[in-house]
Amino acid sequence: MYHERVLSGMRPTGSLHLGHYHGVLKNWIRLQHEYPCLFFVADWHALTTHYDDPQGIEKATWDMVIDWLAAGVDPSQATLFIQSQVPEHAELHLLLSMMTPLGWLERVPTYKDQQEKLESKDLSTYGFLGYPLLQSADILIYRADKVPVGEDQVPHIEFSREIARRFNHLYGREPGFEDKAKEAVKKLGSKRARLYDQLRTRFQQEGDASAIERAHALLDEVQNLSHADRERLFGYLEGTGKMILVEPGALLTEASRMPGLDGQKMSKSYNNTITLREDEASVTHKVKRMPTDTNRVRRTDPGEPARCPVWQLHQVYSDEGTKEWVQQGCRSAGIGCIECKQPVIDGILKEQAPMRERAQTYLDDPSLVRAIIADGCEKARELARETMRDVRESMGLNYT
Ligand code: TRP
Ligand code: SF4
Repeated sequence: MYHERVLSGMRPTGSLHLGHYHGVLKNWIRLQHEYPCLFFVADWHALTTHYDDPQGIEKATWDMVIDWLAAGVDPSQATLFIQSQVPEHAELHLLLSMMTPLGWLERVPTYKDQQEKLESKDLSTYGFLGYPLLQSADILIYRADKVPVGEDQVPHIEFSREIARRFNHLYGREPGFEDKAKEAVKKLGSKRARLYDQLRTRFQQEGDASAIERAHALLDEVQNLSHADRERLFGYLEGTGKMILVEPGALLTEASRMPGLDGQKMSKSYNNTITLREDEASVTHKVKRMPTDTNRVRRTDPGEPARCPVWQLHQVYSDEGTKEWVQQGCRSAGIGCIECKQPVIDGILKEQAPMRERAQTYLDDPSLVRAIIADGCEKARELARETMRDVRESMGLNYT
């Protein structure tokens, strides 16, 4: 139950581009081999800013899932699902909203920033203000301890930690907690109980975080504990009540340095992207049209790679030998820009080839994608239901 688990979500924004691949998806693909992973389409999140135009969300959702699969996200390794198909997210969001101070939401840095950035929209809505809390529900409902996100999302993870802490503080208390926790310690067996006590003391007196980690590992090993005792032992370590919701940590994804066609960061809003499955002719055309060092007016003028966006793409796609060839050839006017661009074109096409191939299978038979998502939703729902049972119980809502 407290095992390591990765969770991440993406808003359905339509076709993904190579910036998403290098910045996010490659990281997911690596993580899927290292941890149990849950990846989901945050379609309700799209509504927080696009409530006035929800029509495109469905298509964007399926296109994005195909892009994930094309990139190599493997449904036999990771669980893929759609947020709105797991309505428990909404229930947890509602319950958490009851105990979330408004000031916490207003202070989330993306709130004012985004409102100012998307000035043309009326974002003085309840849903927009609450969106970090919806994100907290997304994370906490799976008790995910690792959330890969970019730097801009780190405050949301921090916010989720505070919400989990507040929830545990409010609802993790039970009469006689201390005694029940001590009883649970005994059930660990004398050797483990001694180690548990030592680690707990080390954490509480010296704040030694590695002691907490070791204690968590120790509890993970123990098989024959009841669910309630387990929650008590986790909570007792940190001196709180039961730990019902797990505080997540951010797995910071290094900012992608994937350059776009103009040398700025690749981004839809700069109109400088190549999509993941863009057809070959279009890729070739776009790279051929790329601006180069503006000082290289004629073929005979020497150039400087440092001033050229094509060189930035060589850093992503070319081996050392090719890069040497570019440096030399450009500075001595030994090569022309068209020639210089060819290895970049080749590199992109080569990277895309397996993606195009994988995507084709799913485009030919969309029922495959539906089945993957149906299966993922089912798995996610099972985990979500389990957490909701504990949440309801701790809040005294388990009637019937
Ligand atoms: N808010 C994230 C974004 O805009 C998407 C998201 C929603 C998410 N829920 C999440 C990311 C949970 C990680 C975990 O990019
Ligand atoms: Fe850019 Fe290559 Fe032309 Fe030099 S030769 S300016 S690096 S495209």
